[in-house]
Amino acid sequence: MIDFPAEPYRIKSIEPIKLRSRSEREEIIRKAKFNIFKIPADDIYIDFLTDSGTSAMSDNQWAGIMQGDESYAGCRNYYHFEETIRAITGFKHIVPVHQGRAGEHILFSSILKPGDNVPCNTHFDTTRANIEYLGAEAHDLLIDEGKQAGLLHPFKGNINLEKLGDFIKKNNGKIPLGTMTVTNNTGGGQPVSLENIRRASEILHSHGIPFFIDACRYAENCYFIKMREPGQEKRSVREIAREMFSYADGCIMSAKKDGLANIGGFIGLNNDDWHERVTNKMILIEGFRTYGGLAGRDLEAIARGMEEALDEGYLAHRVGQIKSFGDLLLEAAIPIVQPTGGHAVFVDAAAFLPDMPRDVYPGWGLTVALYREGGIRAVEIGTVMFGKRDRNGKQIFPPMELVRMAVPRRVYTESHLKYVVSVFKRIAENRKMIHGVRITYEPQFLRHFTAEFEEI
Ligand code: F0G
Repeated sequence: MIDFPAEPYRIKSIEPIKLRSRSEREEIIRKAKFNIFKIPADDIYIDFLTDSGTSAMSDNQWAGIMQGDESYAGCRNYYHFEETIRAITGFKHIVPVHQGRAGEHILFSSILKPGDNVPCNTHFDTTRANIEYLGAEAHDLLIDEGKQAGLLHPFKGNINLEKLGDFIKKNNGKIPLGTMTVTNNTGGGQPVSLENIRRASEILHSHGIPFFIDACRYAENCYFIKMREPGQEKRSVREIAREMFSYADGCIMSAKKDGLANIGGFIGLNNDDWHERVTNKMILIEGFRTYGGLAGRDLEAIARGMEEALDEGYLAHRVGQIKSFGDLLLEAAIPIVQPTGGHAVFVDAAAFLPDMPRDVYPGWGLTVALYREGGIRAVEIGTVMFGKRDRNGKQIFPPMELVRMAVPRRVYTESHLKYVVSVFKRIAENRKMIHGVRITYEPQFLRHFTAEFEEI
């Protein structure tokens, strides 16, 4: 018996996938220097690398692709894009960009200077990197409950309001904006409550500081608000979203997530001066303000995808599928971040491998084992991704050692998920399959993408 609604769509087009043999996988992971980012996608059976840009588009979105107007300026799809997103968010200016991080770079480089600070519940890695690249500092002020993998709490993505208030007092005059990531991707895809967003906005605004939302997964977040926040159950997800955005002065969104598109994003904002700065920078980097580095057809796919992602039948299946995947892993005694979030199941690698020291990167070792044993690609969200070194080169560990299995939207069925659970069971029965790793090469920024390893 499945205990969540079946897919509210049927499959009209398929894409074959292939499970390479055990010995082929062994050779492939060795050649990739034990970094799953370096494996060609054709050699992956189940790809949980990301839920970003990996959605299956609908027949309606594909039809929109055929109606792309590729005029350089003012293409008709831009007006549809702008009108749709303005109706959802309420922001005065809607600026397309080719993906989320382009929006981050354009916005932050237009308003931040060295020595500035940006508080957030938890910055995503590209957001943090874009802030730090400009000589400013990114600060995570997540509630403590959000840092304990097994602890149940309905809104583990909330920001600690008291810490936010103190932080502002300490750094007043050096905070050009505060932000909130919904859902909190790196903390387990955990939602933020409407109440928490409203209060964070009030605190920032009472000091004259603008408030922005990193809105990649806002529809999933608003569905959780409807399901979990007292008083919200009778409202539509669209109404909740509109209220959520009304507390903000702007947003950055990668439409590769809850836009159900394969590429694209936007900056939404109300401030005319910031809008002018952003559009001037846009022309330099992304292109004219009515296409932002995208083709007209992409703008159309996003406009249609943004509508589809607010469909509550779709959201019930989406969130239900993630929960059911998490429940199957829990039944197999695999420790995961609970409750499950919106877009992924996060395995608590530290709890799964209590005897493996963190300086041999147990989360990373688990991603290697998942590929070797089952052709599965998952991502470490632990010390390789977020670990820092102090002045003496000593490793500083992040609060959690997680492995994320991000589930692409509308792509995998229940049997794919059951296959993954069976691979996990096999690994759990013989944990010697998981080896610690040593870094043999690392770049200066975002090391997880290109680092190289050897097994210990
Ligand atoms: N903000 C959040 C919360 C994200 O999760 C991402 C991307 C971005 C910003 C940047 O957007 O990729 O379009 O440039 N997250 C992807 C992931 C890559 O796998 O979680 P982008």
